[in-house]
Amino acid sequence: MNQEDNKRLDVTIKSTSRDLLAFMKLSTSRKKRFEKASSEPITTDPMNELATKLHPIRQFLIIKSIKNETKSTKTFKLIPNKDLGTTELAYFRPGQYLSLKVNVNGTEITRPYSIASSPNDALKGFYELTIRKEEAGFLTSYIWDHWEVGTQIESSGPEGFFYFDRLRDSKQIVGIAGGSGITPFRSIAKAIIENTIDAKLTLLYGSSNEDDIIYYDELKALEKKYPEKFKIIYILSCEVVSLEGCEQGFITADIIRKHCNIDNSSIFLCGPQIMYNFVEKELEQFNLALRRIRREAFGEVKDVVGLPGYPQELAEKSFKMIVHMGELTEEIPALATESLIVAMERAKFAPPSKCRSGECGFCRSQLISGEVFVNPISDWRRAADKKYGYIHPCSSYPLSDIEIKVPKDQ
Ligand code: FES
Repeated sequence: MNQEDNKRLDVTIKSTSRDLLAFMKLSTSRKKRFEKASSEPITTDPMNELATKLHPIRQFLIIKSIKNETKSTKTFKLIPNKDLGTTELAYFRPGQYLSLKVNVNGTEITRPYSIASSPNDALKGFYELTIRKEEAGFLTSYIWDHWEVGTQIESSGPEGFFYFDRLRDSKQIVGIAGGSGITPFRSIAKAIIENTIDAKLTLLYGSSNEDDIIYYDELKALEKKYPEKFKIIYILSCEVVSLEGCEQGFITADIIRKHCNIDNSSIFLCGPQIMYNFVEKELEQFNLALRRIRREAFGEVKDVVGLPGYPQELAEKSFKMIVHMGELTEEIPALATESLIVAMERAKFAPPSKCRSGECGFCRSQLISGEVFVNPISDWRRAADKKYGYIHPCSSYPLSDIEIKVPKDQ
């Protein structure tokens, strides 16, 4: 390789003779280490221990405090429940979520919630989850009525792929958040400020009105203190906007252009389906490579009827669903507009699930017979799974009577 080649590959070879010498000494030094090592059998496996710490199957937590953020939003501070065996919290990548498992009047359900605190906070011994009460929300109504300081919670380890990766992403991040989709960005912003991530975040945050803005004072204070690392722009869709420095309307291409240097950025989106539909159309104007746009899969689709390709004529129907799970076989009703996982949970099955949006594959099941509609926006199944009839019940909807074989939860 000549000097030109070296320059092109940006490789500097400092000393080949030193490397060669080190290599020649390798077997001698390894032999010495073997001789010094204990002859007792190794009873621990540090690699496995580390892997279990980082990826626990479940974590037992306890509510330490609750803070009201807005009229409909609360932040729950969770610490390890040592009595149930969780002595420390799993570290995570900012943007990841926890899947909570909650028993609501005998029905076991799971929901993913983004971790709103930073990885450093996990090392200090706590996570924060900010949860918005949904209108007629089955789980959130239960949480509002029952969760208090001292309540015990069960969660998964940190999960999900919505995080900054320095090998893939630009150091300039444009975050686009809608409503409670702000929560992973709080974690990312804090991680940037704490130097866990070497990046800069410009955040466009859309809300319907001032009262719905979450973390207003906190994020404004961060922006003021660390302007070189974090900037936030509020966009309110209500008619009258009195908050200083807010944009009025929606997150359009013009607003993105006005506040961000999109050409050098990676774009991270998190919010409700309606925001994705709008913002993704606006982003088309920038002709960005797909890999530059990351999108949080944020739980189940609320309105399957509005998805492309959904057969509208079946929307009112209810079907029969035969479920095999372990030794159990049962026939249950399944509404056409409801995911198979919801139908099973209502019938008091506890199928495995984490992301509830077709992404993690944890609920992967075999469709023995019948037809389902698979949400085309979140169909991340492998080609072989599609070919051999495997589906993700969290993002599949019945189009006929069906029979399904579901794995048991661990
Ligand atoms: S729960 Fe993640 S794919 Fe179904």
